[in-house]
Amino acid sequence: MQAKAREVYVPPVLQDLRAGTAELHIALEKRLPFFTDQLDTDAFQRLMQAYYGFYRPLETALLESARIPADFDLTPRLKAPILQRDLCKLGESVRTLEQLPICQHLPVIDSSAACLGVLYVLEGATLGGQILRREIATRLGLNAGNGAAFLDVYGAATGRRWRDFIEYLGARPMDVDERAAVVAAAQTTFSCFERWLESREVLA
Ligand code: HEM
Repeated sequence: MQAKAREVYVPPVLQDLRAGTAELHIALEKRLPFFTDQLDTDAFQRLMQAYYGFYRPLETALLESARIPADFDLTPRLKAPILQRDLCKLGESVRTLEQLPICQHLPVIDSSAACLGVLYVLEGATLGGQILRREIATRLGLNAGNGAAFLDVYGAATGRRWRDFIEYLGARPMDVDERAAVVAAAQTTFSCFERWLESREVLA
């Protein structure tokens, strides 16, 4: 007898997140220069500087927020320290890193739902990283050891860590309003990030 295909349960909040951010994802993906001929190592470094200018203050805001759910362990999911190490490997000094422009228009983190919406975007971005990692290794010869660890931040654990996050998200009891707040925060995260990257002139 043929085995029945395993049915994957998609929690309602994830359905809402996907429906609410798919277009924003496509729009941003199209403008990111990872696959353009103009992307040389200097342009990649400027792009990663811009990523750092967004991730660092946003992760700091999450860490300092009293709203982050008490049972969520953010520390092992922080990516700004990895970006910082990459930039050093690409030739930046600690002093120049400290002087890099930092995004001032971040998503508002005023509830646990908002934290989760922001985290959905930051965690989901690790999935696309797997494609980008290969591209940047082929194109620029950069990898986890010499300046592109951010694109492979969870390495072989990428899939498992995403599933863990989704399981955590799906297990949280949420009413309709909270689900809407999660989606709104995810949407704002995408749009703030795109606007920031645009202002840093790193988008195609
Ligand atoms: C050129 C750049 C990018 C590419 C090629 C890309 C590609 C992808 C791909 C292929 C997936 C699905 C992976 C899977 O289902 O296993 C994905 C998921 C996702 N990406 Fe991207 N991505 C890019 C940039 C970004 C950025 C910059 C962000 C946010 C800052 C982002 C956020 C997400 C999110 C939240 C998901 C999860 C969607 C879900 O399954 O619910 N991506 N991306």
